[in-house]
Amino acid sequence: MRVLSGIQPSGTMHLGNYLGAIKQWVRAQNPEAYYCIVDLHALTLDISPTQLQEQTLSLLAELLASGLDVEECTIFLQSQVSYHAQLSWLLECVATYGELTRMTQFKEKGSRQEGFRAGLFTYPVLMASDILLYDAQEVPVGDDQRQHLELTRNIAERFNNRYGETFKVPRGVQPPSAARVMDLQEPTNKMSKSVSSDLGKVLLTDSPKDIEKKIKKAVTDNDNDVHYDWETKPGLSNLLEIYSSISSETPQQVAQRYERYGDLKNDLAQVLIAEIEPITKRYFEYLNDPAELSRILHQGAQKASAVAKGTYERAAKAMGLLG
Ligand code: AMP
Ligand code: TRP
Repeated sequence: MRVLSGIQPSGTMHLGNYLGAIKQWVRAQNPEAYYCIVDLHALTLDISPTQLQEQTLSLLAELLASGLDVEECTIFLQSQVSYHAQLSWLLECVATYGELTRMTQFKEKGSRQEGFRAGLFTYPVLMASDILLYDAQEVPVGDDQRQHLELTRNIAERFNNRYGETFKVPRGVQPPSAARVMDLQEPTNKMSKSVSSDLGKVLLTDSPKDIEKKIKKAVTDNDNDVHYDWETKPGLSNLLEIYSSISSETPQQVAQRYERYGDLKNDLAQVLIAEIEPITKRYFEYLNDPAELSRILHQGAQKASAVAKGTYERAAKAMGLLG
């Protein structure tokens, strides 16, 4: 099954990234799976060159520590495969200004910054290029990327109608639980690398003590009635969903076992520590070998380029570029 997904090197991975996306990536690993560290996308953010370099390597270490295996899939760096930026220009001439202005992520991020970068606006077209270059059938992502996936499908269909059958139309896939992990302090906002406070997000590098503290302090309500209901109990429902994603039960099944919030929180902290502690340990081991990390990226870029080249040339030719 041809799979593609991407993640930005914009800071340490949190529980939302891990449960919403990366666990699915690990499950979907196969020789036809391509996973991309999207450093070009991160240039839309206020990020220094040193930060970008460091975060790129540490994200690769986090991905390997989470269970991605370069013998079973391809991991690569977006900027090392030039076709992403090249196809993006072609697709900017297929996407419309109107549809890009309707992207909620652009509206949210743009409204938070004055003088935001033009790349923030065209970002979803670069994402469409990432996906379409690999003829991806499935794209495992969290819930917040649904709209970008719909746009990708529309761009692919419009291109095929206008220039002849060129791209596969991909399908976004979300996990049954934890497709949108919420901020532990503000459970009506999603957990986010940039916006969430320290207490609002659990990081893959958090110590067992930190994890315990963050789960204990997670905002819930006061009725102490364990029920899965996003309308009236967003904080508690978030905890139930996180738990269920790791234990592979439904949130309702988890809820049935508890009478008190405190007991649920204690057990959830232990379940999370058991999941995250080994990842953190492996992460520091990978991080200690930067030469190996660079080698993995270069090898990945070679494999990815071989696929991307063919698709790019097909698209360029279809549009009338001589090549
Ligand atoms: P990003 O860090 O924005 O590059 O996101 C990488 C992946 O994590 C994407 O598939 C997102 O949909 C997913 N993701 C980010 N935040 C969350 C969240 N709070 N809950 C679930 N998935 C998330
Ligand atoms: N936009 C995605 C995010 O912020 C990251 C991303 C870039 C991506 N290119 C992609 C995800 C291609 C899936 C496929 O989470």
